[in-house]
Amino acid sequence: MVSDNKHWSARFAEPIDELMMRFNASIPFDHRLARYDVQVSIAHVRMLGTQQIIARQVCDKLIGGLEQLAQKIAADDFSWQLSDEDIHTSIERKLIELVGEDAKRMHTARSRNDQISTDIRLWLRDMIDLQCKLLARMQLALVTQAERHVDSIMPGFTHLQVAQPTTLAHHLHAHCCVLTRDTERLNDCRGRVNQLPLGAAALAGTGFAINPQQVADELGFERLCANTMDAVAARDFAVEYVAVAALVMVNLSRLCEEIVIWSSQPFAFAQVADSYCTGSSIMPQKRNPDAAELVRGKSGRVAGHVVALLLMTKGQPLAYNKDNQEDKEALFDAADTLSSCLQVMEGMVATMKFDVAAMRQMADQGYACATELADLLVRHDVAFRDAHEMVAKAVKEAELRVVSLNELCEDYLPELTGLTASELRRALDVEQAIAARNMPGAPAPEAMQKLLGKKREELENTLRDK
Ligand code: ARG
Repeated sequence: MVSDNKHWSARFAEPIDELMMRFNASIPFDHRLARYDVQVSIAHVRMLGTQQIIARQVCDKLIGGLEQLAQKIAADDFSWQLSDEDIHTSIERKLIELVGEDAKRMHTARSRNDQISTDIRLWLRDMIDLQCKLLARMQLALVTQAERHVDSIMPGFTHLQVAQPTTLAHHLHAHCCVLTRDTERLNDCRGRVNQLPLGAAALAGTGFAINPQQVADELGFERLCANTMDAVAARDFAVEYVAVAALVMVNLSRLCEEIVIWSSQPFAFAQVADSYCTGSSIMPQKRNPDAAELVRGKSGRVAGHVVALLLMTKGQPLAYNKDNQEDKEALFDAADTLSSCLQVMEGMVATMKFDVAAMRQMADQGYACATELADLLVRHDVAFRDAHEMVAKAVKEAELRVVSLNELCEDYLPELTGLTASELRRALDVEQAIAARNMPGAPAPEAMQKLLGKKREELENTLRDK
């Protein structure tokens, strides 16, 4: 079976092949851009009217029809057919049905090439704004948990080996800092997305006396694309966004990995709430932290979209090529995946319960205060390297006796170091060790409390404005 191709031209003698029609059509996925396409057309038609490129009454009629379409789209009352090929043709067909032949004047001084780039940029700008809010909400969940745990001692790890004592608040705040940078990256990328390509038409601009600045002002674009060829050919803004999204996903996956580790039985630091776990069909005792595992797994999928877009772009001669139609599914899926992960993680983090005693116990077990002891010796004028060696010997001895460093304070350590038992005990006191680390960004509870307060204020402001 073959179908009509009347939206291209009388140039075609043969109708399009059925398989080719399906292969070529982007409407099955770009219908998602409907409201942006209409918004762009309204701004374009208004400008054509102002510039007297089309008559005032025609302009009003078209805008009236487009506004009706916008309402239908907002009410989810939008259908498409495969023969529409893409969202631009689909909207035009509907407008013709609604207001008649005058609708055919809408496509004056533009092309689908500049139209699609404008649509995607508008869609992506909204998506970035939404995701900055989602990132703020997720960070607020981390801050709220951190505020509860400024005094909760946990082992800090390097190489996943107990390293030095810290607090849960310190650890959660670290994840928060990553997400702050991710938000900055998204906002930075937004600046390059928010440039208007419309007016570039197919690639060389148009001879009509258009006013792209009017369109940019109406649609809220910060500036115009500087070159009409670049305007229609470029997809680097999409590659950049997906690369940032992949990095956010990878950053989320690190927290997820920790949540999985923390909620395993050997650690038992934390419990993911029932509402974010699933059971096993065979092992009745199981409660699996699936939300965390899914986010971790989905990071690979978004990273895959970066590769897809990079290779889609590679080797394309200027200007527009149909290769670019392949940007949308990758872009949509990357964005949707990130949005859902951020939302699920906000809920999962907000409802997690931490076992403060279990964390404390591991911090005590792992000789986490060994560095404190070495620092004490340094304060008594021992060179750090020698102090390091002395403490290493003590740890070896403690391991041999299967005791903590504290338990060596009576005999072994005073003899080894020449210090008194009470001095040594003080150095090995975890609370004191943490309280002493009060430089900016370190875990001392008071300093951390302040940092968290600042962060909370910042996040609440972000969520309030716009
Ligand atoms: N569906 C196309 C895309 O997604 C729209 C632009 C089509 N332009 C063209 N000359 N066929 O890129």
